[in-house]
Amino acid sequence: MKLSTLPRVRLADLPTPLQELRNLSAALKGPRILVKRDDMTGLAFGGNKTRKLEYLMADAISQGADYIVTGAGFHSNWCTQAAAAARKSGMKVVLVKSGPVDGYEPEDIDGNNLLHHLMGAEIKVARPENTQKVIEETLEELKAAGHRPYLLRATGSTPPGVMGYVNTILELTSQAVEMGVDIDYLVHASGSGGTQAGLVLGAKMFSTGIKVLGVTTGGKTEEGQIEKVSGLVKEAAELLGLSIDLTPGDVVVYNEYAGEGYGYVTDGKMEAVKLAAETEGLMLDPVYTASSMACLIDLCRKKFFKPEDVVVYLHTGGPAALFPYKTPLKAYLKGEERPWVIPPWSPSSA
Ligand SMILES: Cc1ncc(COP(=O)(O)O)c(C=O)c1O
Repeated sequence: MKLSTLPRVRLADLPTPLQELRNLSAALKGPRILVKRDDMTGLAFGGNKTRKLEYLMADAISQGADYIVTGAGFHSNWCTQAAAAARKSGMKVVLVKSGPVDGYEPEDIDGNNLLHHLMGAEIKVARPENTQKVIEETLEELKAAGHRPYLLRATGSTPPGVMGYVNTILELTSQAVEMGVDIDYLVHASGSGGTQAGLVLGAKMFSTGIKVLGVTTGGKTEEGQIEKVSGLVKEAAELLGLSIDLTPGDVVVYNEYAGEGYGYVTDGKMEAVKLAAETEGLMLDPVYTASSMACLIDLCRKKFFKPEDVVVYLHTGGPAALFPYKTPLKAYLKGEERPWVIPPWSPSSA
């Protein structure tokens, strides 16, 4: 199958802008930094999942689905994007989300959880060990009621989903040519690995020389993440009928910026959110883009980049998650001790 002929439904507003971050570069005494605004993909506050969903929803539509069933974390950006893609495609959606207890319902509906409710998603909350069972039961119940549910695997990191970020490399290099810049590095948040796999595959396929630096977001090991991303690169290449030789160093992972666990609050992430906002009016999320920005800041301070390098920061979206983090953010802004480090909706805080 060729990239240009893979089934795809248009959901994203593309190309997303490629913008200069002059004030951030100056504040960090760093190299030239640009931002690729994938927080502006145009679907429910945007984010990297829109690009993956273009390929995944094409399959759901071709199978005549009337319901999307998916699951992820309680404040998941994936769930927001998947629900929006389902609604835009005229489908209903069930979200099975992980929470500290089965049926968890916070007093205050905020952030992505609020967006899930606004989009009319049917919401089920389960402990992580129960979510798979709830998903299977939901699929059976919907089928028994005469529906055609389609299961979207959480976060869309499957070979078709990866293609969204192979495309991004084409988009980015054409924008770089327009701007007359040669990109050396691309820094971004790496979770389930699909975004990084697409970027690495695209950078190789089109011989761009761009070095992709993935920054993990908690609960991972560097080796495990490299293995996961490399496996996805190979599977996605196979889907395109290509054989790609990955050499050590093609998949680069930084694993030290997320803190002790997924979604945890750290000084580095709080500083990243504040610095991007106050230098550029750029809103990050406290989980993913805060980790990748914390890495970028640290690499600049360590003089990892040469002054003449061009570094692109990929904004992968998710700023709705700022609002449920208002308690530690407010404490950080006031220089006070933070009341919590593990989010109350996290399964590990139960
Ligand atoms: C805002 C944001 N950035 C980055 C990622 C990581 O993308 P991937 O799962 O493709 O590695 C996610 C995944 O949920 C996300 O929500």
